[in-house]
Amino acid sequence: MVIKKIGILTGGGDCPGLNSVLYGIMLKAFEAGIECVGILRGWKGFLENETISLDIAKHDDLHAIGGTLLYTSRTNPFKDVSKAKTEDEKEKIREKVARELATKYDDLGIDALIVIGGDDTNGVADAMHKYTGAKIIGCPKTIDNDLSGTDFTFGFWSGVQLASNTMDNLTTTARSHQRVFVVEIMGRDAGFLTMYSGISTGADIILIPETPFSLEDDVIQVLKNRVNAGYKYHIIACSEGAYPNKNSLDNDFKTITQETIDKLPKDPFGNPILPALNISEIIVKELGMRKDLIEEFNRNNLEFECRSVVLGHTMRAGTPNAFDRILGLRFGLAAMKLVIKGEFGKMISLQGNKIISIPLAEGARKKFIEKDSDLLELRDLMVKVRYLSKKK
Ligand code: F6P
Repeated sequence: MVIKKIGILTGGGDCPGLNSVLYGIMLKAFEAGIECVGILRGWKGFLENETISLDIAKHDDLHAIGGTLLYTSRTNPFKDVSKAKTEDEKEKIREKVARELATKYDDLGIDALIVIGGDDTNGVADAMHKYTGAKIIGCPKTIDNDLSGTDFTFGFWSGVQLASNTMDNLTTTARSHQRVFVVEIMGRDAGFLTMYSGISTGADIILIPETPFSLEDDVIQVLKNRVNAGYKYHIIACSEGAYPNKNSLDNDFKTITQETIDKLPKDPFGNPILPALNISEIIVKELGMRKDLIEEFNRNNLEFECRSVVLGHTMRAGTPNAFDRILGLRFGLAAMKLVIKGEFGKMISLQGNKIISIPLAEGARKKFIEKDSDLLELRDLMVKVRYLSKKK
């Protein structure tokens, strides 16, 4: 079947570079004589037939503009799957919904669909392709960079730069007041944003979800070591998804328990809404209750003053940097080329500096910082060597 019209949607949290992908798709589609239909608000617009026509002549330089022209949402067409009790039931609901979704192509008047989203959005696309053979292509998007099957997602480096700039800038006020700053950085499940920005800015402590921390050993003891080595201000880069380990949670924390974490509200895909926890503020409160820590500061002629800063959505805001513009354009071009070749059920991927495609099922999985990553080694060295090398 010749493809004449394609639908494009963006789902999940926005990030810089979404419009770059869109522009890459539109450039190639124009050359191929294929019409582009923008589906609004992710899967919501797909289900409710909310579309706009995309005329490339009206969107010069769209690739340099932040956010998404198509709006986005966290609508989950598979939300009923979580209500099923058995795996069997879950599978049946998934298949039924996937079949219903595939019939929407006719209502929307599209021959194929490109979805730009994270593991949730690409997971829906994968199920549609698996059960119905739907003509669908996935483009990996997440500011968190936690999608397997691609070395980097667009938006990530823009977010890293924003967080690094903020932490660089915070050092002047931290130094002036001789304070401790706990900076909370996005990244629900994986610590890539915190790790890259933390290392780049030279944060003094870096806490990420992959290595549950001990408040006693990884924070309090390090702060004591640092003040005794002569340091007068400290920046702690803390991922919003960084959790204390069980031992520390049970023994060091006075303001939260496991129950607090288990009871967090969830988004439509079942992900905990972590800003509701506000781990940076919890750390500030816990540290403020530690007399031994305050005394150590006082012995070094310092007041103990600690503040939290939540970067939150500022990290997803603004224009994409040059890397993300180019990566987005390359992803868009590659997605459109797959449509033209009729190769569906694939996700675009960056490997090394090559753009390739992989099966949707492989790419939609989560990625984490691995245990043997040199980033972990760098982080640990950076923290330790500083106070050890200056020990009085
Ligand atoms: O898309 C991933 C992410 O940016 C996470 O880092 C963060 O926890 C979440 O989105 C925030 O989502 P929302 O924009 O819906 O508040």
